[in-house]
Amino acid sequence: MSRWLWLCPPLTLALAAGILWRWGLTPASAVVVALLLVCPALLVWGGVALRRRPEYPSEPAPATRGMPLGWAAPVYDWYCPKLGLGPAFRAKTIALGELKPGMQVLEVGCGTGVLTRLAAAAVGPDGRAVGIDPAPEMIAVARQKAVAGAQFRLGVIEALPFADASFDVVFASAMLHHLPPATKDAGLKEVFRVLRPGGRLVVVDLDRPANPLWWLLFFPLLAWPMTAGNLRGEIPDFLARAGFAPVARHGRWLGLLSFWTTHKGGAS
Ligand SMILES: C[S@@+](CC[C@H](N)C(=O)[O-])C[C@H]1O[C@@H](n2cnc3c(N)ncnc32)[C@H](O)[C@@H]1O
Repeated sequence: MSRWLWLCPPLTLALAAGILWRWGLTPASAVVVALLLVCPALLVWGGVALRRRPEYPSEPAPATRGMPLGWAAPVYDWYCPKLGLGPAFRAKTIALGELKPGMQVLEVGCGTGVLTRLAAAAVGPDGRAVGIDPAPEMIAVARQKAVAGAQFRLGVIEALPFADASFDVVFASAMLHHLPPATKDAGLKEVFRVLRPGGRLVVVDLDRPANPLWWLLFFPLLAWPMTAGNLRGEIPDFLARAGFAPVARHGRWLGLLSFWTTHKGGAS
C-alpha cells in the first residue's frame, strides 16, 4: 500500500482543480487555486513523512573515493523495478550465489538491502547475511526493512571490517561502477581477503553495451573513470587482478549489465 502513497499529491491536486473548474473557475485559475489549497496540505504530509524517516546510524559515514548513493535511498526501492531491476533480476542474482542453509554471506554496496534480505532468507536461521554501504541513508532504510538474519552496517569495499576468510559468498550488485579503477582494485582485493578459500563471488554490473542504441546513450560514460572500465568490458580483468579465477559470465540483463561468478582459489 505504502508504495502507492506518492500518487496522493498529484491525484489530490488534479481532484481539487477538477472540482474548482466544475464550480466555474477557468482551467488556469482552477489549477492555481488548487495549488494554493493543496500545497499547505502537502507540507503537512511531507512533515509527517519526514517524522517517519528511518533513523540514521550514529557512526560517521566512512570516507571513500567511490560514489555513495545516499540521496536515492528514499526512492531506490521504488524506481529500481521500473528500470527493469525488479524481482526477476534479483532472483537471477541470488540463484548465482548457490546459497545453502548456514552460509555466511556478505553484500558489498548493499544499498537498501534488497539482495541481503533475500540472501538472509536463503541461508536460514543458522546462516548470516551482512550488507555494508557507505551511505548512512541507505543503511537506515536497509535496517528499517531488515528481516531475521540480515544485518546492515556502514562500510566500504576498500576497507572491509571483517576478518580474513569469514564469508562463503560475496555479492557485488550494481556497485562496481560506483568506484574509480584504483578503488575497484583495492575493493576486490578486500573481497578476496574476506572470502574463505573456495568461496564464491557474484558480480552483476554494467558491461559493454550489447547494441548500438545503448552505445548511443551510454558512450559519454567512457569519459568517466568510474564507468569507463565497465563499458570497455574490463570487469573480468579487475577480477583476475584481485586473484579470482576462473571468471564465468552468466548472460546479460537488458543488454547492458552482465552477471559473473568467480572463486577464491579456483575451487568451485
Ligand atoms: C546502484 S547501488 C546498488 C545497491 C544494491 N547492491 C542493489 O543491487 O540494488 C550502488 C551502491 O554502492 C554504494 N557504494 C558507493 N561507494 C561504495 C564503496 N566504496 N564501498 C561500498 N559501497 C559503495 C552506494 O552507496 C550505493 O548504495
